[in-house]
Amino acid sequence: MASSSFFLLLLLGSALFISNGATASLPELPNLTTLSFEEGYTQLFGDNNLMLHGEGRTVHLSLDQRTGAGFASQDLYLHGFFSASIKLPSDYAAGVVVAFYMSNGDVFEKTHDELDFEFLGNIRGREWRIQTNVYGNGSTAVGREERYGLWFDPTEDYHQYSILWSNERIIFYIDNIPIREAVRTQAMGGHFPSKPMSLYATIWDGSSWATLGGRYKVNYKYAPYVAEFADLVLHGCAVNPSDHKTVCQGSDAIAYDTIRMSADQRTAMDKFRMKHMTYSYCHDRVRYPTPPSECTLGPEAKGFLASGEAKFNYRRRRGKRYARSSVDAIL
Ligand SMILES: *[C@@H]1O[C@H](CO)[C@@H](O)[C@H](O)[C@H]1NC(C)=O
Ligand SMILES: *[C@@H]1O[C@H](CO)[C@@H](O)[C@H](O)[C@H]1NC(C)=O
Repeated sequence: MASSSFFLLLLLGSALFISNGATASLPELPNLTTLSFEEGYTQLFGDNNLMLHGEGRTVHLSLDQRTGAGFASQDLYLHGFFSASIKLPSDYAAGVVVAFYMSNGDVFEKTHDELDFEFLGNIRGREWRIQTNVYGNGSTAVGREERYGLWFDPTEDYHQYSILWSNERIIFYIDNIPIREAVRTQAMGGHFPSKPMSLYATIWDGSSWATLGGRYKVNYKYAPYVAEFADLVLHGCAVNPSDHKTVCQGSDAIAYDTIRMSADQRTAMDKFRMKHMTYSYCHDRVRYPTPPSECTLGPEAKGFLASGEAKFNYRRRRGKRYARSSVDAIL
């Protein structure tokens, strides 16, 4: 474990401490170490479908006919860096949803904020897809989904999924490669998450929508479906639950706001998006004839509008079965 923590530190170090001139003086984030389950988390549901391994540093969440399972951080955080290495269930996994996300839905029912990684299982021979989303102040009527394929098989090994959330920007990373950046704009107003959130990890039955808009359901013949979580990092400004005041001060609080992508990281993100993104709300002229104000079309947009949206529109015209939103029609 020591060596893998060290490796993670190196990875995170290169993700956060950016080497261009403007950010060279970035204050170091202290305590960027992995936590055991007991140190930072608490079980949400699923009784024995949550199992600890490796002295509590690896968590297995399983889904069977009876129940899924989930855990959450003990604390709420206002900004920070949140990460886990995740290995997804292999073989047939249609309808299975694994989520790694931040939310405050249980504190602010009507005006909640949320940042999501959602992993959508698939039928045998078809790959898992990954979705990210951003909600702020209960903006559930405005979906800001993006979907991607991956350049690896996420069921074969652990891969690191991370969320950076500052006052100014949100960056989603996979294996240290930024895959999405959402920069706060004035026009977004409350739609940029701005209240303390907890970190969650769950597995559940998404039969009604996860795979081809619900056409393929969870098949419990293949249960249990097990998702493994390791290298748990909670590096944020913890908040006092009674008054919601942050206990994060000084350079630590500032550190998140000063994080910028290096030119190399931006290039890597653009490449990823050109190659692997299969859907973005910013390119969806059916849902949003005028794209939401924060949408700045990156280099991926050109090819996307030519091929991706055409594909989307085509499927949308033909498809009748997308339950949750039109996005579910695309794969
Ligand atoms: C780092 O973590 C240790 C142990 O949890 C704590 O005592 C210390 O105050 C932390 N340092 C900072 C700068 O947060
Ligand atoms: C959040 O939503 C509530 C209720 O709709 C509204 O009163 C409040 O002004 C919003 N906050 C922000 C920051 O937009």
